[in-house]
Amino acid sequence: MTVTGVVKSGSQSMPDRDFKRLAEFIYSECGIKLPLAKKTMLEARLQKRLRVLGMDSYSSYCDYLFTPKGMELELISLIDTVTTNTTEFFREPKHFDILVNKVLPDFLTGHGVAQPLRLWSAGCSSGEEPYTLAMVLSEFARKTPGFRFGILATDISTQVLERAMRGIYPEDRVSTVSMEFKKRYMLRGKNRSQGLIRFNQETRDLLKFKRLNFMEEFTFDKPKHIIFCRNVVIYFDRVTQENLLTRFCKCLEPGGHLFMGHSESITGMNLPLTQIAPTVYRRS
Ligand SMILES: C[S@@+](CC[C@H](N)C(=O)[O-])C[C@H]1O[C@@H](n2cnc3c(N)ncnc32)[C@H](O)[C@@H]1O
Repeated sequence: MTVTGVVKSGSQSMPDRDFKRLAEFIYSECGIKLPLAKKTMLEARLQKRLRVLGMDSYSSYCDYLFTPKGMELELISLIDTVTTNTTEFFREPKHFDILVNKVLPDFLTGHGVAQPLRLWSAGCSSGEEPYTLAMVLSEFARKTPGFRFGILATDISTQVLERAMRGIYPEDRVSTVSMEFKKRYMLRGKNRSQGLIRFNQETRDLLKFKRLNFMEEFTFDKPKHIIFCRNVVIYFDRVTQENLLTRFCKCLEPGGHLFMGHSESITGMNLPLTQIAPTVYRRS
């Protein structure tokens, strides 16, 4: 019944045909590629959904999912289940040095302070990346009179977005943030909120959160100056990656910058991007 602590539904593993149906559907819906080797991972992650729905087999789950009611009620939960949302404050910290020392000065040279900088954190998970950006850009603004900015942060998963919008984190999550930043941008929880921090209102107001699925159409009124899309496309196949990056380039102003995750690469893709630092690109 239990193997390595995971209760298998009805003692069965997922039939390959159900895995195939789910994997094809997840790929078409979110672009996430699930080879057969990921079956155990999917089984483990779907256990909770099976329990919540009172189902005893993956086949019942599949049958339900592919009904109109299942599509309406279960799709969001399935997406929450299959996305990997690992993130942290100041993840890949060199990127923030490059932002402050190279990209923002370039932006000021080209634009001055007449218009606010528009930044998009694409695939923002539970908010650690966009809040890091809000703190870093606020520091830059303190030293640069007239500099203004706005951050759009999007994700496909409603579950992580709800956490991001609250802006509340356990204190141990912010251990990579300097004491100075904590004092300036966060409030410490008291009594029942002891052990938690919340970003102050001023910082929360710099961020706009929105659900956005990269597999659907997206456009913006004005092109972005900077896109952070880190540790997201790694879950997509190469064709999907290149398509998405082409669309990102269309949303980027010429001279704008794209930051990607350290294990992601655009090598061999036909994109109007020039590398200026490891995994940092400038739109031509
Ligand atoms: C590993 S997290 C990366 C978070 C952050 N960018 C970082 O580097 O720490 C990847 C995020 O991409 C989101 N994602 C996956 N597929 C997506 C899609 N089709 N559209 C939009 N977001 C997606 C996931 O929900 C997840 O929160």
